[in-house]
Amino acid sequence: MEGRRILEDLSFGVERGETLVLLGQSGSGKTTALRLINRTLDATSGRICIDGRDIRQLDPIELRRSIGYVIQDFGLLPHWTVEENVSLVPRLLGWEMDKRRRRARELLNQVGLDYQEVHQRRPYRLSGGQKQRVAVARALAAEPGLLLFDEPFGALDPVTRHEMQQQFLILRKQYNVASVFVTHDLLEALALATRIAVLDRGKLEAQVTPGEFITLRTPVARSFLDTLPSGLLDRCAD
Ligand SMILES: Nc1ncnc2c1ncn2[C@@H]1O[C@H](COP(=O)(O)OP(=O)(O)OP(=O)(O)O)[C@@H](O)[C@H]1O
Ligand SMILES: [Mg+2]
Repeated sequence: MEGRRILEDLSFGVERGETLVLLGQSGSGKTTALRLINRTLDATSGRICIDGRDIRQLDPIELRRSIGYVIQDFGLLPHWTVEENVSLVPRLLGWEMDKRRRRARELLNQVGLDYQEVHQRRPYRLSGGQKQRVAVARALAAEPGLLLFDEPFGALDPVTRHEMQQQFLILRKQYNVASVFVTHDLLEALALATRIAVLDRGKLEAQVTPGEFITLRTPVARSFLDTLPSGLLDRCAD
C-alpha cells in the first residue's frame, strides 16, 4: 500500500553564497525536505544533486559528513566537551589534533564564544544560546559546501536571535557556503533569504525573492504576512 505523500513536486536550487529559506506552517514538510537532502530519508521519486552529482550515488555517511546540519534542539552530544562536539566531523575525517584544535578555537570565537572559557565544558553547563552557537560552529567545522539549518534560532531570545542571524550572514559570506534554512518566522526569512520557498502541505506555493514575497497574494504567504504588526510593511516601504 502506498503511504501518504508528505512532499510533492518540490523543486529548488541553491548556489554557494545563497540561502534558500523554506517557509511553511508546522507539518508542511520542511524538516522532511532537509532530511531528504542529507539522506536520513530517501525520496520515493525525484532527484537531488549536489555539485552536479545525484546524492543516491554518494555514500550516505560521507554525504552527511560533507553537510553542516543544525537542528532546533542543538543535537550536541551530552557527554562530550564543547571542543569535542565541534571537532566531531573533523575527527571522523581523520584531521590531526593540532588542526582540529585550531579550527575549534577559530570557529568558537567566530560564533561569539570565548574558546578558553567554554571549550572544556559539557553542554549542560551552557545556556541555550551558547549551545546553539556551539551547534553552528560544529556545522561549519569541516568546511562544508552546504548547510542545512532547521529552525536553529527559534528558541532564542530576540536579541540573541538577531545576533545569530547577523553572524550567519557573515559566516555565509566568509565560507561562501550554500544553505537551506528552515523557519516559520517571516522576519527571519526576509532577513536571511536570497530566495524564499513557501511550502503549503508539502507543495511549493511560491518561490520568490524577499522583495517579491511581500507582494504575494497566495494563501500561505498572506497568512504569514498577516502575522506582521499592521503597518510594518508600509513603514518599511517608506
Ligand atoms: N517519519 C515519519 N513518518 C510518517 N510521517 C511523518 C514522518 N515524519 C514526519 N511525518 C509527517 O510529515 C508531515 C511533515 O512533517 P515535517 O516534520 O517535515 O514538518 P515541518 O514542516 O518540519 O513541521 P514543524 O514546523 O512542526 O517542524 C507531518 O504531517 C508529519 O506528521
Ligand atoms: Mg520541522
